Amino acid sequence: MSLAVVILAAGKGTRMRSSLPKVLHPLAGRPMLEHVLDAARALSPQRICVVHGHGGEQVRERLDGNDIHWVEQAEQLGTGHAVGQALPVIEESRVLVLYGDVPLTRPETLKAFVELVDENRIALMTLEMDDPSGYGRIVRDADGKVQRNVEQKDATAEELAIREINTGILALPRSLLAEALPRLSSANAQGEYYLTDVIAMAAEAGMTIETARPDHEWEVDGINDRVQLARLERIWQRHQAETLMRQGVTLLDPARVDIRGTLECASDVTLDVNVILEGQVRIDSGVRIGPNTLLRNVRIGANTRVEANSVLEDAVVGEDCVVGPFARLRPGTELAESARVGNFVETKNTYVGPGSKLNHLTYAGDTRIGRDVNVGAGTITCNYDGVNKSATELEDGVFIGSNSSLVAPVHVGKGATVGAGSVITRDVAAGELGVARGRQRNISGWKRPENKD
Ligand code: UD1
Ligand code: CA
Repeated sequence: MSLAVVILAAGKGTRMRSSLPKVLHPLAGRPMLEHVLDAARALSPQRICVVHGHGGEQVRERLDGNDIHWVEQAEQLGTGHAVGQALPVIEESRVLVLYGDVPLTRPETLKAFVELVDENRIALMTLEMDDPSGYGRIVRDADGKVQRNVEQKDATAEELAIREINTGILALPRSLLAEALPRLSSANAQGEYYLTDVIAMAAEAGMTIETARPDHEWEVDGINDRVQLARLERIWQRHQAETLMRQGVTLLDPARVDIRGTLECASDVTLDVNVILEGQVRIDSGVRIGPNTLLRNVRIGANTRVEANSVLEDAVVGEDCVVGPFARLRPGTELAESARVGNFVETKNTYVGPGSKLNHLTYAGDTRIGRDVNVGAGTITCNYDGVNKSATELEDGVFIGSNSSLVAPVHVGKGATVGAGSVITRDVAAGELGVARGRQRNISGWKRPENKD
């Protein structure tokens, strides 16, 4: 049976107190709605509809994918009305309803869930809660068959005592929606068209009503304000941390690592405290990441050490390297095996060959460095003249003395040396020594000035 996923996201999100639409607030570094879209896509549905509210342009701009049908619900008249707005564009036989502010439902949970549905069966995601207040309650008959859902505000005292709640997530045949939505009434405590009233209609029509519960409560947690968002962020980070530890990664404190993206970690990787991993990160075995480091879209080869307080972005680091402490690898940096980039070194669009070292206080931009090159403390590549960027090339075995400026474009040949304190504006050929600094004069018998008073 074909499947359409409808994601309701028309709510104003007033309690976020934000100019950013609620569903664009990030969880684990990505908009809430993007998590929901990912889960939806994992089901390979024939169609995904997002119902957005007035002013949904920001949401569309941020998340547009060719696979999304955007449907506007100008006025929020209730969840039933919201799904009704999407119905005309849905041709699929089954419909799954998700929420833009319920970001963490796992694809596995949803896959099993939609399988429960056919022409005569609907599925509700429900949960037993110690404190069910605020939620719709699931009313069952004496045989335990679901009869209907009653919203908190419409419930009798007896119904309020029911602990099984409606999470809101449901899946049903399109034919039921087509039949039931036009019959919804807003004669209830909130004056809304409740999607949940479809449940009673299905029961009356003799359909089977399946219920399923998620493995984790957080899979159905909805976000209304920043307090709930922060709480769910912690729950999710904890879950990711535990998954990593089970895969063989050591976390010195699982409460102090944040994964905002996808992390692939081989075994025996150690992450110290306050490591932040963003985007796509891949770490090979035996790697140690020091405290207070940020890794964004990086690959790190086996047995490399990234020392404390380093920031790596869009970079590839080979095996057996040492990076940091206090190193900054900017986009386009590639370190070959056994390279070293030490404290207060910044690299950008730079390749560092095997065994080469930039150990202290250096900037290397648009630079290609061969193998076993030593770049002395304080070396700067002057790669930018205010308009254009130019390249620097240091061939194998080059030695750059401390505090040198390499004015690009410039080429230093194999095995060449640059004397400390040089400003190198012309190429240095293989094996040569390039020195470009004032000659030292020593004046003997020099008398220091004396105090005349
Ligand atoms: C809904 C359910 C309730 C369930 C609860 C779980 C209904 C009638 N009730 O109640 O049984 O326990 O969720 O959290 O469905 N939305 C729109 N357009 C609308 C109205 C809502 O897009 O016109 C979206 C909101 O943005 C939100 C979601 O639907 O993401 C739920 O709406 P909300 O009004 O919060 O429903 P609840 O009262 O929480
Ligand atoms: Ca709600």
